Amino acid sequence: MDDLRDKYLTAIATAADEATLEDLRVAAVGKKGEVSLQMRELGKMTPEERQAAGPKLNALKDEINSALSAKKAALEDAALDARLAQEWLDVTLPARQTPQGTIHPVSQVTEEVTAILADMGFAVAEGPQIETDWYNFDALNIPSHHPARTEMDTFYMARADGDNRPPHVLRTHTSPVQIRSMQDHGAPIRIICPGRVYRADYDQTHTPMFHQVEGLAIDKDISMANLKWVLEEFFSAFFGTSVKTRFRASHFPFTEPSAEVDIQCSWEGGTVKVGEGDGWLEVLGSGMVHPKVLEAGGIDPAQWQGFAFGMGIDRMAMLKYGIPDLRAFFDSDLRWLRHYGFSALQVPTLHGGL
Ligand code: PHE
Repeated sequence: MDDLRDKYLTAIATAADEATLEDLRVAAVGKKGEVSLQMRELGKMTPEERQAAGPKLNALKDEINSALSAKKAALEDAALDARLAQEWLDVTLPARQTPQGTIHPVSQVTEEVTAILADMGFAVAEGPQIETDWYNFDALNIPSHHPARTEMDTFYMARADGDNRPPHVLRTHTSPVQIRSMQDHGAPIRIICPGRVYRADYDQTHTPMFHQVEGLAIDKDISMANLKWVLEEFFSAFFGTSVKTRFRASHFPFTEPSAEVDIQCSWEGGTVKVGEGDGWLEVLGSGMVHPKVLEAGGIDPAQWQGFAFGMGIDRMAMLKYGIPDLRAFFDSDLRWLRHYGFSALQVPTLHGGL
């Protein structure tokens, strides 16, 4: 009996896992286990023998059972310790980074321009980028013989033989949206139209696709004075400092009179600073909408008049954020985008800074 005791207590003490422990339980105190079999033998013994062996066997059975449950508890504790050691979590670690894109300077500046002019009551209008030559030219008082048609380096859409739809172009400016807005809504009008325009041109400050924003205000007594006020308010809000403007007489077929507008700037060490110094930088074309243009839009020039302006968005982005080369805007180089991109849209308002 002592042999059995040593055998099982040692085996239980050194069991490596719960499965081994269960095997030992079956082998010792299971129905056909060694201890159980010996207990069955008690029936064949004399009362004296039984009195001596019985209590010992019962004690052995109890001892083995409690060794089994003690070991089982120890194994469970060890398993839990091992899991805890493996699955620990360092709550002081920094959060994992999720890669985020950036907002392109053109998108940023479009939003900025739109927010400022929306504050002044201009609604956003849109038009197609593939335009008929009527909207892009004729309606804007640029007849087919007019030199402006060739000066603008227009992209014409190819036409199949027998296609007798009107000729289409990639719009060379956002001005056709003036006509579309007049036709759609009539007077009075106060809209801006930001969007893509196309001209066959490529160098440090020109790309074949670029962005403009058109402004158009038509009412009973709109004048150049309103135009000047709107532009000065706009530039001051956009650049965050008061900016003087200079109007130079110019010529556009669709405005009369016409003016090119310069903004005040300084040129120091090759960098342009807007809103200081006594230099000037040309930034947009503008004027009073030509009567023929109002007529083309279905508006009576005897009753209504207004101003229009057209400005380069990419140009504004280059000036405000010191970006030297326009071509890089459209290269999709991630390093450039990370450097010049914006993390979240933050738009200035007319009277409240950023
Ligand atoms: N459409 C002209 C251009 O692209 C700009 C402009 C718009 C001028 C409106 C006058 C009025 O150069």
